[in-house]
Amino acid sequence: MRMYDVIKKKRDGGRLSREEIRDFIDGYVAGRIPDYQAAALCMAIYFRGMDAEETTELTLAIRDSGETLHFDGIDGLRVDKHSTGGVGDKTSLIVAPLVASLGVKVAKMSGRGLGHTGGTVDKLEAIRGFRTDLSVEEFQEIVNRTGLAIVGQSRDLAPADKLLYALRDVTATVDSIPLIASSIMGKKLAADDDGIVLDVKTGSGAFMKSQEEALELARTMVEIGRRAGKRMCALITDMDKPLGCAIGNSLEVIEAIETLRGCGPDDLTQLSVALAARMLVLAGKGNYEDCEAAVRENLANGEGLRVLAEMVRAQGGDERWIYDPSLFPQARWLERVRAPHSGVITAVDAEGYGTASLILGAGRSTKDEAIDPAAGIRLLKRVGDTVESGETVAILYTDTRPWALSAAARKLLASTLIGGEKPPERTLILAVVE
Ligand code: URA
Repeated sequence: MRMYDVIKKKRDGGRLSREEIRDFIDGYVAGRIPDYQAAALCMAIYFRGMDAEETTELTLAIRDSGETLHFDGIDGLRVDKHSTGGVGDKTSLIVAPLVASLGVKVAKMSGRGLGHTGGTVDKLEAIRGFRTDLSVEEFQEIVNRTGLAIVGQSRDLAPADKLLYALRDVTATVDSIPLIASSIMGKKLAADDDGIVLDVKTGSGAFMKSQEEALELARTMVEIGRRAGKRMCALITDMDKPLGCAIGNSLEVIEAIETLRGCGPDDLTQLSVALAARMLVLAGKGNYEDCEAAVRENLANGEGLRVLAEMVRAQGGDERWIYDPSLFPQARWLERVRAPHSGVITAVDAEGYGTASLILGAGRSTKDEAIDPAAGIRLLKRVGDTVESGETVAILYTDTRPWALSAAARKLLASTLIGGEKPPERTLILAVVE
């Protein structure tokens, strides 16, 4: 295969064969194909797209570029969920223990975050002592014992994706549906789950700004998963405003705990219940209504919280923090952001809120940057709320960057529209792809 011919074929709108796609991925990972040719092919895919078969082949080639996991030591069905990423999204911390509390195993591998807040692993590391670098044997033993374990993604998982993602990031080829779908599913398929529920976000805080694009991405990923023999389901959900009221690692763990106690924000509770119920349906636990009722029961009776505490203890963390969140270290500096005038919050730019939390130290701008676990934002007012001039809209926290507080406050205010009329309620779960 000449890489030149493959680029030209896709540039001219042709279909790539399985061999051409495999040769491209293998050659790029082995260093035989230079960045400039890989970038040219990504751009050709960006403009010309890929059909379902090509996208599936690309996904499988990415999956097979590294280690694929086999958890033969875990008994029973395993399901996972994946979110395409959103501001304040801490649903994994709520959903995984709820599902495990209802007898379905969750053996979760999560990446570290790059961007506004950490990933699930970074959030859990806000709990002192919590270990995310378990051996395969420890991981399987904890999943069997508690129903749930969450670890960092192995370095050897889908290495082609790491290289390609870094290249796409600097060549304006990230937002291509076949490239996003194969990147996400290449990693997901390398982990040995029976079913996957996808939460595809749409709106100002998401990759997919329009609902149509989100739906197309969801359909593409569901199709890839099915072709690979997995049970699949996707929800399209609103990310025009942050999910819940907390943005930032320990603040988000605390909000997840409150939600598992049954007193979390409505939107976060609604989405967590829906995702958990869909995972149970995939695991064959019954129809959606019965699964939803079971999830709500385990929210109300504290079973989900108990499983979270058990997992935290099994992974080396202090479980008392789960029952008493006041034990989480407080940030040394805080600033109240006040409404400049009276009115109703008509809209927010979720991405702007994410940037404000990044400025405070809650996320990473480069992959090796340290995260400040106590940094973040607590929203006291949200879209649809009335505010008086001078009233506190949000509280900003940082333990490491007091000098960043005023820039973060400016960013937050610039991302908050205060107008005269209450906006119509937005639906949180916009569509389901089964
Ligand atoms: N998340 C991924 O893992 N890959 C993409 O391409 C986009 C979002």
